[in-house]
Amino acid sequence: MARKRVAILISGRGSNMAALIEAARGKDYPAEIVLVVSNRPDAQGLAVAETQDVATAVVDQASFPTREAFEAALQAKLAAAKVEIVCLAGFLRRLTASFVERWRGKMLNIHPSLLPAFKGLDTHARALAAGAKSHGCTVHFVVPEIDSGPIVLQAEVPVQNGDDVEKLAARVLAEEHRIYPAALKLLAEDRLRIEGERVIVAGTAKAKD
Ligand code: GAR
Repeated sequence: MARKRVAILISGRGSNMAALIEAARGKDYPAEIVLVVSNRPDAQGLAVAETQDVATAVVDQASFPTREAFEAALQAKLAAAKVEIVCLAGFLRRLTASFVERWRGKMLNIHPSLLPAFKGLDTHARALAAGAKSHGCTVHFVVPEIDSGPIVLQAEVPVQNGDDVEKLAARVLAEEHRIYPAALKLLAEDRLRIEGERVIVAGTAKAKD
């Protein structure tokens, strides 16, 4: 089967992007990263992608008068690269419902919490402040509502006594780098079926009634 053509959308550091690029180097990986797009010209991840010989583009949100104009330019880049799957990786711009609809079932996001807990920003600090014993990360399909959508994979990271934001974030990030490539692999292999809020993974044991 032909490898699926994937674009990664970033706004900053790009460590999840780097993990996806690295995984896609694998001989049998079912997806190739054909484009990295940033909505900010100063995103650190752009230089990282370039050193990995991955094509990059900037669609600078500051140079578009409206969200729709920005997204039309973004969509043009994706279409020109014949992109089939979009991965949001630290992409910090809200997308309109019509853009999300255009990519329904084909756009993933990673979030640093066990959704539906701790949507939004500062998830590690909020998990610590809430006294959560269990934290982690989630890869989910993107829907118009922020940090929502059918969950593909999650990794749990137990909170330890000596944790501060930095320590906890580092352990969660290591898990992000593991589950994002795994989730993209499942999607690229057409093994995911969305049923309401749930994602059924083909080839795994059925849940008992
Ligand atoms: C990651 O921790 C990602 O889960 C988070 O931003 C970070 C980006 O880091 N995303 C969100 O909070 C989305 N709601 P990276 O640029 O090094 O991948």
